Amino acid sequence: MVSMLLSVPAVVSTCLLLFLANLVGNVRGGIPTTLDGPFKPVTVPFDESLRGHAVDLPPTDPRLIRRVKGFEPEQISVALSATYDSVWISWITGKFQIGYNIKPLNPKSVASVVHYGKLRFPLSHEARGNSLIYNQLYPFEGLRNYSSGIIHHVRLTGLKPDTLYYYRCGDPSIPAMSDIYYFKTMPISGPKSYPGRIAVVGDLGLTYNTTSTIDHLISNKPDLVLLIGDVTYANLYRTNGTGSDCYSCSFPDTPIHETYQPRWDYWGRFMQPLVSRVPIMVIEGNHEIEEQVESRTFSAYSARFAFPSEESGSLSTLYYSFNAGGIHFIMLGAYVSYKKSGDQYRWLEGDLANVNRSVTPWLVATWHPPWYNSYQAHYKEAECMRVEMEELLYSYGVDIVLNGHIPQIYR
Ligand SMILES: *[C@@H]1O[C@H](CO)[C@@H](O)[C@H](O)[C@H]1NC(C)=O
Ligand SMILES: *[C@@H]1O[C@H](CO)[C@@H](O)[C@H](O)[C@H]1NC(C)=O
Ligand SMILES: *[C@@H]1O[C@H](CO)[C@@H](O)[C@H](O)[C@H]1NC(C)=O
Ligand SMILES: *[C@@H]1O[C@H](CO)[C@@H](O)[C@H](O)[C@H]1NC(C)=O
Repeated sequence: MVSMLLSVPAVVSTCLLLFLANLVGNVRGGIPTTLDGPFKPVTVPFDESLRGHAVDLPPTDPRLIRRVKGFEPEQISVALSATYDSVWISWITGKFQIGYNIKPLNPKSVASVVHYGKLRFPLSHEARGNSLIYNQLYPFEGLRNYSSGIIHHVRLTGLKPDTLYYYRCGDPSIPAMSDIYYFKTMPISGPKSYPGRIAVVGDLGLTYNTTSTIDHLISNKPDLVLLIGDVTYANLYRTNGTGSDCYSCSFPDTPIHETYQPRWDYWGRFMQPLVSRVPIMVIEGNHEIEEQVESRTFSAYSARFAFPSEESGSLSTLYYSFNAGGIHFIMLGAYVSYKKSGDQYRWLEGDLANVNRSVTPWLVATWHPPWYNSYQAHYKEAECMRVEMEELLYSYGVDIVLNGHIPQIYR
């Protein structure tokens, strides 16, 4: 197994990881996988000039402002299902609420409809999906509660591989439909069939450095984006919207590690120009735990993104798998049980056993915290996960492991 971790330490609190793999250019049927290895690794020295001080975008930044009216869709995104013939479209309608005695919106009050097709006009197909809201509640004096807008997820099925589709989403009965967007499906799975470019990023945040990372990513025209944990860093804020530079030393005087959930909405708006067009696949990091009332965790992460969990036989938003051309991606949860006796491990055994390397020769696994690193702040943090799962991944000849979490480069 080759463990690859490429992390750009732009800042201490929001480490960036960016890895653009030009897979199609390089990977053809004849290129060996690690099943044929081992091979000599290549070292690229770290550019110290990348260190800097990250400053969050303020809520007044034009890219973070709500621009829709009434129940028109915003924060539109595309995610892949488990196979090329299906994708998820997600969006949000209505305003979030934060404060005292908030009244959650009724998710049933706005329909979840996508009109789509290979032609911009007419959009000949219709798909319907489900809607939900989530609450982030802090039962402590002085802390504010949050209730999300209505989050919609619709799965499109029966799609052709490597094909451009146009779509608009919303509720046609209000009427409140979005503009027309487009995405391209993944190529069919096979040993000579790959997406052109895959962007891999972790520890993204919503800082000015995030904007240059995303600009760089867009200019490289990816077909797919993987976000390997640590999304918005909403947990660097108190519920009153006051931020902090440092995660571990944040707010020693507060009864719970607070979050400011509107940061998620800002992030969704900022990302829309990219992810309404290019599918994004997210796996959770430690910053998504976001504990709240009754020890509930991962509420924003689990509600806001669509995951091909059911399609890949997982019962959890915290781990799943999917194919992108001749690559089988396994997205593992480092903040949920990974014990040999647990659900995730059992699911992983089944998922690996089902991989047919004649169909997906490349097997890529990702999770947020690396198993191998010498970075002081996170040293051996994921050791228990390694002890449980490493042998299983070895036994199936995983080609590449991608991680985030630490602001250093290893490979
Ligand atoms: C990160 O952003 C800051 C401004 O907020 C800038 O000074 C610094 O150069 C940026 N770092 C990188 C690596 O682009
Ligand atoms: C927030 O929700 C919790 C749990 O329902 C409740 O105990 C608390 O009073 C609420 N706080 C505010 C400020 O509304
Ligand atoms: C938020 O709460 C903290 C702690 O009580 C306080 O120091 C800070 O000034 C508050 N910020 C705002 C914007 O009210
Ligand atoms: C794997 O895929 C190949 C090519 O489609 C097929 O011939 C073979 O039967 C598959 N193997 C299994 C075990 O399903």
